[in-house]
Amino acid sequence: MRVLFVCLGNICRSPTAEGVLRHQLQAAGLADQVEVASAGTGDWHVGKQPDSRTRRAALLRGYDLSAQRAQQVSRDDFNSYDLILAMDKSNLRDLKALQPSTGKAELDLFLRRYDGAVEEMPDPYYGGEQGFERVLDLVEAACERLVIELKGRL
Ligand code: 4NP
Repeated sequence: MRVLFVCLGNICRSPTAEGVLRHQLQAAGLADQVEVASAGTGDWHVGKQPDSRTRRAALLRGYDLSAQRAQQVSRDDFNSYDLILAMDKSNLRDLKALQPSTGKAELDLFLRRYDGAVEEMPDPYYGGEQGFERVLDLVEAACERLVIELKGRL
């Protein structure tokens, strides 16, 4: 089973989701059954580590994102991943435009599927530190629901 998180730059929201889900999968004993990655619809930050504010906020909660490097989503990803989760509606629109008609991946909006109240992950890039905390709060809660779903699917 392979899961790909997608945001715009792949330096804030989707790297956070990648790190948190990997951590939760390890705790659930599912790390060797589910592969996790993240990507951006844009290519501006390809090759870079997650944003320093993202890394700092994540590390304070026990998630080390320092090994991650930004990459851009590709059409091939729709055949190599089972589940592709977009952070906001704009990411979802861009992914739908890229999606090949034969792709096997299921494509969905991350929070619409795994949060009862919020549909879109707010972009913290141009805001203050509380934006990164909010992303972590939403990601941690949604990933708990995602892990339950993955357990049922494996
Ligand atoms: P992300 O946040 O999509 O969560 O990685 C952003 C990162 C970079 C930019 C915008 C959003 N940017 O404009 O460079």
